[in-house]
Amino acid sequence: MADNPWMLTYERFDPESEGLREALCTLGNGYFATRGAAEESEADEVHYPGTYLAGGYNRRATDLSGRSIENEDLVNLPNWLPLTFRPEGGAWLNLRRMEILDHRQKLDLKRGMLERQLRVRDDAGRITAIAFRRIVHMRHQNLAAIEMRITPETWSGRMQVASSLDGRVINAGVERYRELNSKHLSPLEAREAEEPDTILLVAETNQSHIRIAQAARTRAYRDGAEHTVERATSVEDDHVVQTLTLEVERGETLMVEKTVALFTSHDRGISEPAQAALRAAHEAGRFEDLLDTHVQAWQLLWDRGDIVVDRHPRTQMILRLHVFHLLQTVSPNTIDQDAGVPARGLHGEAYRGHIFWDELFILPYLNFHFPEISRALLLYRYRRLPDARRLAREAGLAGAMYPWQSGSSGREESQVVHLNPRSGRWTPDNSHIQRHVGAAIAVNVWRYWQSTCDHDFLGQYGAEMLIEIARFWASVAKWNDATGRYDIRGIMGPDEFHDGYPWSESPGLDNNGYTNVLAAWVLRRAAEALDHVEPVRRKELESLLSVTPEEIAAWREIASKLALSFMEGGIIAQFDGYDRLKELDWDAYRAKYGDIHRLDRILEAEGDSVNRYKASKQADVLMLFYLFSSNELRDLITGMGYEFDPQVIPRTVDYYLARTSHGSTLSRVVHSWVLARSDRARSWELLTDALESDISDIQRGTTAEGIHLGAMAGTVDLVQRGQTGLEFYDDTLALSPCLPQELQGLHLGLMHRGHWLRLDISCDEVRVAVPLGWPGPHRIRVRDEVRELTVGEELRFPCELYAGGWRPTTEARPPDTAAEPSTNETRRKARGRPT
Ligand code: BGC
Repeated sequence: MADNPWMLTYERFDPESEGLREALCTLGNGYFATRGAAEESEADEVHYPGTYLAGGYNRRATDLSGRSIENEDLVNLPNWLPLTFRPEGGAWLNLRRMEILDHRQKLDLKRGMLERQLRVRDDAGRITAIAFRRIVHMRHQNLAAIEMRITPETWSGRMQVASSLDGRVINAGVERYRELNSKHLSPLEAREAEEPDTILLVAETNQSHIRIAQAARTRAYRDGAEHTVERATSVEDDHVVQTLTLEVERGETLMVEKTVALFTSHDRGISEPAQAALRAAHEAGRFEDLLDTHVQAWQLLWDRGDIVVDRHPRTQMILRLHVFHLLQTVSPNTIDQDAGVPARGLHGEAYRGHIFWDELFILPYLNFHFPEISRALLLYRYRRLPDARRLAREAGLAGAMYPWQSGSSGREESQVVHLNPRSGRWTPDNSHIQRHVGAAIAVNVWRYWQSTCDHDFLGQYGAEMLIEIARFWASVAKWNDATGRYDIRGIMGPDEFHDGYPWSESPGLDNNGYTNVLAAWVLRRAAEALDHVEPVRRKELESLLSVTPEEIAAWREIASKLALSFMEGGIIAQFDGYDRLKELDWDAYRAKYGDIHRLDRILEAEGDSVNRYKASKQADVLMLFYLFSSNELRDLITGMGYEFDPQVIPRTVDYYLARTSHGSTLSRVVHSWVLARSDRARSWELLTDALESDISDIQRGTTAEGIHLGAMAGTVDLVQRGQTGLEFYDDTLALSPCLPQELQGLHLGLMHRGHWLRLDISCDEVRVAVPLGWPGPHRIRVRDEVRELTVGEELRFPCELYAGGWRPTTEARPPDTAAEPSTNETRRKARGRPT
């Protein structure tokens, strides 16, 4: 792969890694996305063309060992890609049956275009060069287009081009789910349209009844003019193929354009999807015209969303790839949809397209570049508040209990059994007791509001969510007479390796440190939220939700008495009783298995259980240092009635880092963040691994089933906030850059409360510019230098160089992370931060 910072390039055709490339070359526009499968391919052991609609779910029941299990999937929609050719009487293009003379594939991140160039020799010795270009239109969300240029290098004669819409697809992208019912589509209509160059396919999901219509217009051009062709259309229930037959001359290039319109019954502003699709296919311009407007739409996104790093083309390219895939999953087109952000993008079928807590890693980037998308994603949650209330009620609790996995309606979509591919056994899946997901939603609401000052959102939606989530925590916390504290029992923290005690039959753990601190945070913020709501709306909310001063006082009281467990040296225990677990012999397991990121599966296959060990899949306690500064954390923990000395932070980081397998890609992002100021070398190593998660498929096989969007967005935010130390507090904008030595500069724009801040950090200075109308803060502090933040002019802060990076000073404070320096850098003091 070359290191062009705008291009993901693959040489050669490699069947082994085709699934990975398909996921990474997915094109989408926040409304729908299609994997980067070859145009001539069908789903088989190498290829998996998949097209997914934001919010396009369907439910099916399966009988598994005598038990009926219902699953909701993000549906694989009819395949609109197929476009292929053959010399009349010859074989259709097939890379596994022909000699490949050249093959090159490029994902152009700047233009949002996938290109593939190949030359093949068929069994009759004919050599043909083929070049594909493909887009999924960023502005016209219902359009996609493919251009195929065919040059018969050594032959002339009749050629056939086949262009189809294939509704025979099922959800078969993930091997582990193959035992589950995966037929989601019922055919409704397949035919040639009134315009003879267009075909139409209409299908409907068989439970959620989403109607999907695709219209494909296929035309051939020679020397810029439309080429006369003979057309034949063959139709089955759920498959329609149009074959174009035409004459070609040796050495001459024939251009075929397939323009596809995809509409569904979720679309607004239409009468009915088939009619809308036919009209849009008819009205669409030529490929080049569509490309122009598409590139323009992407340019606008890059103007707002690009993050430029100096002198590290690979890091630059990967950061862009991450922004690219994020914006293909959620974009301005998503704003009008009722869609959340699936953990694995719209790029594959892993986790069935469900939505988890991963937004916690995604929204910070969006808040600073595309806050209107954050708002739309939060509204997805708001619309599911009634379901969250129902879930709480059914559990005998108050308020809103958001599901661990969410899909169409907001009911709990987590699976109840999990197949361990190592042992072939189905084991109980208790991951749904990760109640911290609701707290993550509350954090997202609060941070969006802080970053945008969107009072309308807070008053109409945000405060209600905060209040209902707080009520849930207040009701789940139970008073313990023996300890004089409130306990939260029977839940799981983010670390999915621990779902229960080895000495107990029932699932769940008590007083997960991360959850309890976050619950205390939510209770306090909810108590505060109403103070920020405009008085008339506040009265309405108090009356609608029956909030009383007594209830608010009770939240504060519970927040001040939630239980936490500590271990030797003041380290926060992951949960009560954590110190009774056994140490794992990490070296022995690494030596035996090599890759141990899924220790849970390894141990289960051995007849053991990871619950017995001090071994985590991902950051859990350390999430606290990721989310809060040391001062915030100190306030929270002392507010809970415990002593908290920030000096314990480095010990805590070392302790858990040594006991984590990084079985989740989110884990390295968190660990890199908490080490950013104390151990830059290790932090960079973890960031590099996090950057490579998908592009190099470091979990060996998981990316082919969908990208890891939380880690993708998390790495970008790690550079944007973690390494700049960017934070807003009181009336001050603070920066404390600590770029790894490998990155010698960083340039980006950040939106704060509707205005763009420009930040340029290089080896020897920090430059900051804010525009006219800047709403504040009015002071800026770069490390220890404080100045007035004057609008309209650029402020320059010279900074010392330290071996190509930033020299640590005794005064510089850790910004967004609470991690204090531990070993090789001077210890720095923490100062104040806003709440
Ligand atoms: C992680 C979760 C995450 C989920 C979806 C799991 O492997 O443990 O924290 O939410 O993947 O990304």
